[in-house]
Amino acid sequence: MRRLVIDTDAGVDDAIAILLALADPSVEVLAFTTVHGNVPVAQVTQNVGRVLDAVGAGPIPIFQGAARPLVGPPVHATEVHGADGLGDAGLPATRRQAEPEPAPLALARLARAHAGELLLVALGPLTNIALALALEPELPRLLRGFVWMGGAIRAQGNTTAVAEFNAYADPEAAASVFEHAMRPLMVPWETVLSAFIPWSLWDRLVALEPVGQRVVTRITARVRRLCQETEQPGMILPDAVAMAAAVDPSCAQRKLARVEVETGGRVARGLTAVQFAGPPTLPVNAEIVTEVRTDSLTAMLRRAFTLSPEGVKT
Ligand code: BDR
Ligand code: CA
Repeated sequence: MRRLVIDTDAGVDDAIAILLALADPSVEVLAFTTVHGNVPVAQVTQNVGRVLDAVGAGPIPIFQGAARPLVGPPVHATEVHGADGLGDAGLPATRRQAEPEPAPLALARLARAHAGELLLVALGPLTNIALALALEPELPRLLRGFVWMGGAIRAQGNTTAVAEFNAYADPEAAASVFEHAMRPLMVPWETVLSAFIPWSLWDRLVALEPVGQRVVTRITARVRRLCQETEQPGMILPDAVAMAAAVDPSCAQRKLARVEVETGGRVARGLTAVQFAGPPTLPVNAEIVTEVRTDSLTAMLRRAFTLSPEGVKT
């Protein structure tokens, strides 16, 4: 059994990643931690509750975290995810409430309580992780693994010309995480782009009952339109690709690397400079997912989109 804590700025693709985890019988989701990002953090917390409600999930605790990055004002992505972060699809409000404990404290506590067991999957800006690391410097050794969707390997940005959103939205936090031995398994933007789901296949997947048709079709309609307007060959699902790599390591190709995050800069803030291992590199501080097999991702999406309430762990 993989025991997961999911740190998220949910987000349409975060929602799909959450569904993948909930539908996987080999995964136990212990908690969610929420962070500013695609939308303000209170809305993110609400969105996690709405996704859990949509599939009848049990009372998995949600810990609300940072409302802004370590430095500067928050950056949001409502033009992609909609004003509510879930495609403005009218998903009902949730009655689920965040726990009183702040997310970074909860992360540190859970890591200690389950030493050597937890896989932390971060799907947003790394603010909560950097704060947890400051509170518990042993965090890297306490976790079983750490996966992050973020950054870019060839400076192909989706937010600026060179920066990916999760890196750009808190570069200081990302820099701290790479500097302090968290050694992420990083799923960069370029890998996400190459793991697209062709349109004809995507349309068949979202037609699946009950979750595909009742939930996913609705929340992804806006992103689908944007992907088509920008002439993508299929649906782009960043956080779902990261979740696939997290829960099924056999579907991901990896390479050791040294990653530095640009925290200054006028035009390059949030850029991740990646040097793959091999002479004359500096010590490695990350592993990069360079490819994710889309047949495995497709199988996981199919399982999630056909999830019935009886199949959801409570
Ligand atoms: C990442 O940024 C967010 O908009 C998505 O949810 C994903 O985590 C992609 O750059
Ligand atoms: Ca996200």
